[in-house]
Amino acid sequence: MNLVDTLNQQHALNETLQFREQAEQSIVAEVRTAQAEATIALQGAQVLSWRPVGEEPVIWLSPQARFAPGKSVRGGVPICWPWFGAHPGSSDLPAHGFARTVPWELEFTEVLAGGEVRLVFRLIESEDSERLWPYITPLLCSITVGRSLGIELTTRNEGGETVELTEALHTYFQVGDVRQVDVVGLDRCEYLDKVRDFQRDTQSGPISVSSEVDRVYLNTNREVVIKDPVLKRHIHIRKRGSGSSIVWNPWIEKSRQMGDMGEDGYLHMLCVESGNAFENAILLEPGAEHSLWVEYAVEAAGD
Ligand code: BG6
Repeated sequence: MNLVDTLNQQHALNETLQFREQAEQSIVAEVRTAQAEATIALQGAQVLSWRPVGEEPVIWLSPQARFAPGKSVRGGVPICWPWFGAHPGSSDLPAHGFARTVPWELEFTEVLAGGEVRLVFRLIESEDSERLWPYITPLLCSITVGRSLGIELTTRNEGGETVELTEALHTYFQVGDVRQVDVVGLDRCEYLDKVRDFQRDTQSGPISVSSEVDRVYLNTNREVVIKDPVLKRHIHIRKRGSGSSIVWNPWIEKSRQMGDMGEDGYLHMLCVESGNAFENAILLEPGAEHSLWVEYAVEAAGD
């Protein structure tokens, strides 16, 4: 039996959750309920789409996203783990760690009392991943699809030494026109500005985007809201177990260099990532567990 059939046999939930191959060697779970639709790839346990019924898509996936084993996918909710950004010690190692480019397996799926569908994934360790990360730290990702989207990433240290890790849920949100968007909730927060060689600065007022933005906001657990006057909605980003929020838009030049953003993709996306980076790195003692939790919800708005 092939993997899709096995997954359907073991984890499909009648009409609400099915598995299919969407590109060669790329298997996705498709959720369809009265509340929402979502697609989640087995590679990276990466949410590729989520749309509450009656809404425009909330998660942006590049029209030129490429799907290939071991390659990162431009858009959705890539999981950056066990390091965020460049590896602290070696520039040869993959940016944002390896969790987003390896296969995950399903632990279980269920329909919750409120009608939401929950899928719990576990990262599959391999000799390759052990070479990159020689620690015993099983990683689980629980994804709850409903009128809101919940994602919880749990790392457990089952080894004998303390482990330091950084991480992020690198969510690409769909916006009508990024030039008109305001991001609120980070006023007076300190940030590292990657565009200005990691200079430290303090946010004043809402964030707006009119050129490349690449900032790691530190020591903040606040809710962040994307106010989108074109799609007439607010996207609420709530989080726990996260000290950093990252705001990223590559703008024109970087998009061209990346080659998988699509013609004017940068105008219709904005990454607001929740994580733990730089001085918010997580120190996990033997036997300890850490969870990074986010919840996204959409509210209609006239502004
Ligand atoms: C952001 C980083 O989180 O991810 C940026 O702050 C980076 O510096 C971006 O360019 C995209 O990374 P990647 O590896 O998916 O191209």
